[in-house]
Amino acid sequence: MCGIVGYFGKRKASDILVDGLRRLEYRGYDSAGIACLFDGRIDVVKNPGKIKDLRLKVDSAASPILKESIQGIGHTRWATHGPPNEVNAHPHLDASGHFAMVHNGIIENYKDIRSGLAKEGIECISDTDSETLVQLIAFCYKGNLEDAVSEALQRIKGTYGIVVMTDHEPGKLVVARCGSPIVIGIGRNETLIASDASAIIPHTRDAIYLEDFDMAVITPDGMEICSVDRAPVSREVTAMDWDAAAAEKGEYKHFMLKEMFEQPQSIRNAIRGRLDYEMGTAVLSGLDFSARDAAQINRVLVVGCGTSMHAGMVGEYAIEEMAGVNAEVEQAAEFRYRNPLITPSDLVVAISQSGETADTLAAVREAKQKGALVAGLCNVVGSTIARETGRGVYLHAGPEIGVASTKAFTCQVSVMLMMALKLARTRRMPGHEGTEFARWIQRLPELVEEVLKQNDAIKAIAQKYAKCEHAFFIGRGYLFPVALEGALKLKEISYVHAEGYHAAELKHGPIALLQEDTPVIALLNNVPGKEKTQGNAEECKARKAPVIAVVSAGDEGAAEGFDDVIVVPDCPPAITTIPTVVALQLLAYHIAAARGCEIDQPRNLAKSVTVE
Ligand code: G6P
Repeated sequence: MCGIVGYFGKRKASDILVDGLRRLEYRGYDSAGIACLFDGRIDVVKNPGKIKDLRLKVDSAASPILKESIQGIGHTRWATHGPPNEVNAHPHLDASGHFAMVHNGIIENYKDIRSGLAKEGIECISDTDSETLVQLIAFCYKGNLEDAVSEALQRIKGTYGIVVMTDHEPGKLVVARCGSPIVIGIGRNETLIASDASAIIPHTRDAIYLEDFDMAVITPDGMEICSVDRAPVSREVTAMDWDAAAAEKGEYKHFMLKEMFEQPQSIRNAIRGRLDYEMGTAVLSGLDFSARDAAQINRVLVVGCGTSMHAGMVGEYAIEEMAGVNAEVEQAAEFRYRNPLITPSDLVVAISQSGETADTLAAVREAKQKGALVAGLCNVVGSTIARETGRGVYLHAGPEIGVASTKAFTCQVSVMLMMALKLARTRRMPGHEGTEFARWIQRLPELVEEVLKQNDAIKAIAQKYAKCEHAFFIGRGYLFPVALEGALKLKEISYVHAEGYHAAELKHGPIALLQEDTPVIALLNNVPGKEKTQGNAEECKARKAPVIAVVSAGDEGAAEGFDDVIVVPDCPPAITTIPTVVALQLLAYHIAAARGCEIDQPRNLAKSVTVE
């Protein structure tokens, strides 16, 4: 969603800001802008549309401020209040033009603030909630920016990550956070601010992650951090460990393609050192409960959104089947509001690639409030969910830039399978079965490689169906969440209307929609109930819908009579979820590519959804 960058140092600010915004493009946005301060004046350039157009606008501007400034702020906006146009884009200025601010989050009481300002003769010019905050800061200003920010923030309700500057106090940036992440990078003679480490990682590895209600004041003399109500706080400098190269496309046409091909390695990283073949279990040190405590867990509740929730569903099946522990998965957005019944013997697992999804974070807080054991499965190190859960497992997938999640999903499933193994071994699973399952997990990278080798064959199938406007994915058991994820991938990046269904559900409605140009992707690999799904695929064929059958190697006969076939390695049902989803990722990618879609930044989507 929205992205923030800020800079104060010795280099040309506009270059660093625009480059930082380019690195945040993946989060999803529809307008962007920067503001720079030089020689006691602020200049702003904003643009609805892409960063490359913003860059052209900045480069062609004659303004000496943009050319000379060493201090500035920038923003990518994903429209919430008002359409994506130049006025609504950030940075916002106050009415006097002396204050500039970028804001992520939502000011819930902005209408009250706006009418209060109007009574003072201050009119807002944009539709946004954000503009009211900079107007309020300017209104509260009595000669010290941090005092004004502190006062204004205590009058608002909602969430924020902000960076503010004023030409009354050149050289100063005030940064604050509540519910919207902010990382401050400390470079040599320079300070960088961002909502996401990927924007600043090329410049420094030393960073401070602000906590909720922190306010940082950056001046040429250094940085001071306090709380928004001015109590002193101390925050540690941590080392960011993501390689800047990992956030570049390299030889690949799209980040999504690169990330799909990285999966053998990312899964290797996710499982490295976490399997104990002798004891037949998984060693997940972040799940710091003893075998005895694990044995007390009565229920596992998995919460997440989007792709992460689908990974949770695979985990739900594995935990129940292998460990015999009651497991349930729920959309985090629903969990947070429906007053769920939680007991201290429940383990709540929050899955989130970004570790910042608003609904998942709220579900974590609700589960903690109700006394459950809470664990996080996050990819982004130091993210809010990772920090607030305090217990959990990092995915080690590396930066995922493509909006459509691929390598994070397969790492999430790998970790869920290890968690199921760990729980299973504290209960009913015998050691030799644990060892066998651990060996299958170890083989996941090579199983994924087998599927990636079929890239060209899958591309050829994709091209046959690239013009379809509707598609159905069907599966059973472990392959039901895979069908959901396959459909999600296709709709996200190709805009084909795609639905995932339990194969048995097809007859309860969706079959009415089948036509000659509506492909059905039937997951017929070796899982219990395969023959039934085969029967469901026959029913689709009888309605003239073309069927793409996904089958296990050695069982190619299962595809007989269907239009196209994708063969994935034969492996146990829980394990097959990963190679199968990789085949569906490739299918979605090539359909989207054939349709000429903008794969890495699909319209209207955001990489990380930080508002409800
Ligand atoms: C957005 C992204 C999805 C992601 C979901 C949950 O919708 O576009 O790819 O699965 O958020 O994100 P999280 O970071 O919590 O996994």
